[in-house]
Amino acid sequence: MNEMLKFQGGVAVITGAASGIGSGLVRQALAEGMRVVAADVQAERLREFTATLSGEVLAVPTDVSDPESVEALARRAWQAYGGVDLLFNNAGIMATGFSWQVEPARWRRSFEVNVHGIHHALRAFVPRLLEQGRPAQIVNTASVGGFLASPLMSPYSATKFAVVALTEALRGELEMLGSPVGVSLLAPGPVISGIFDDPFGPQAQQEPAVQQFVELMRSMLQQNGLTPEAFARRVFDGLRQRQFWLIPQPEAFDELFRQKAADVLARRNPVLPRF
Ligand SMILES: NC(=O)c1ccc[n+]([C@@H]2O[C@H](COP(=O)([O-])OP(=O)(O)OC[C@H]3O[C@@H](n4cnc5c(N)ncnc54)[C@H](O)[C@@H]3O)[C@@H](O)[C@H]2O)c1
Repeated sequence: MNEMLKFQGGVAVITGAASGIGSGLVRQALAEGMRVVAADVQAERLREFTATLSGEVLAVPTDVSDPESVEALARRAWQAYGGVDLLFNNAGIMATGFSWQVEPARWRRSFEVNVHGIHHALRAFVPRLLEQGRPAQIVNTASVGGFLASPLMSPYSATKFAVVALTEALRGELEMLGSPVGVSLLAPGPVISGIFDDPFGPQAQQEPAVQQFVELMRSMLQQNGLTPEAFARRVFDGLRQRQFWLIPQPEAFDELFRQKAADVLARRNPVLPRF
């Protein structure tokens, strides 16, 4: 399990590759000398993005919420390159609103992409990675919000808490098997991306408080967010050590997490974040 991962000449599969964090991971993987299988549900955007890159990139339009699409992605990766060294389960969507107003369809879609999408990838990739019998790493993207829930983001927070649970369970299972396949729980803080471009789905009306919250989050990401490239460099630094808790922005996590743990242990009510 502690054997080094192979970056130079290795193969990285990245979902949600056409935008934001995924695009940074693609660029960094190429900079590390990896071959990249870039997957995204936005086929045209994926094609345009990969056309700008130099290096070996295979663009595979994929909807992670569809198990057959994810199985086809795994098949394609093995056909093209005969193996995979890094799997980034990065695709994810935002959903906001007062909990009692979130449309069931939006709530379901959040789970289909953010949680089921990862489960589909585990079903398609883990058996193949185990069969390879060599070091490989699965990186599941949760969020700082997977440890610290926020008002007006309950669908998103719930999915990200689920990703943390799923990933902790997976780590134990791979260890039980003595497998060389490892797993990391990636919890980004703010990173400049399109995550808040479409946080409502088809819902038409939003309360002014929700609209204001979204505007605030958009400007917070622009002002305080890392660029996807800077973030991806930190991710690869953590992966060199095969960190399980891959938390590249301790400045956005440690103090809040300490505070939450202290509050729970003292049975103190959570403090409402200031928006
Ligand atoms: N940006 C941040 O500040 C931040 C913070 C914490 C966690 N995250 C997480 O990072 C990941 C990447 O988000 P981002 O911020 O780069 O957002 P983004 O919206 O810029 O990129 C997400 C990409 O995922 C793709 N995608 C959406 N649904 C998909 C599906 N069903 N199948 C395949 N691809 C799909 C989108 O087309 C898009 O290209 C997400 O899991 C997100 O929750 C982001």
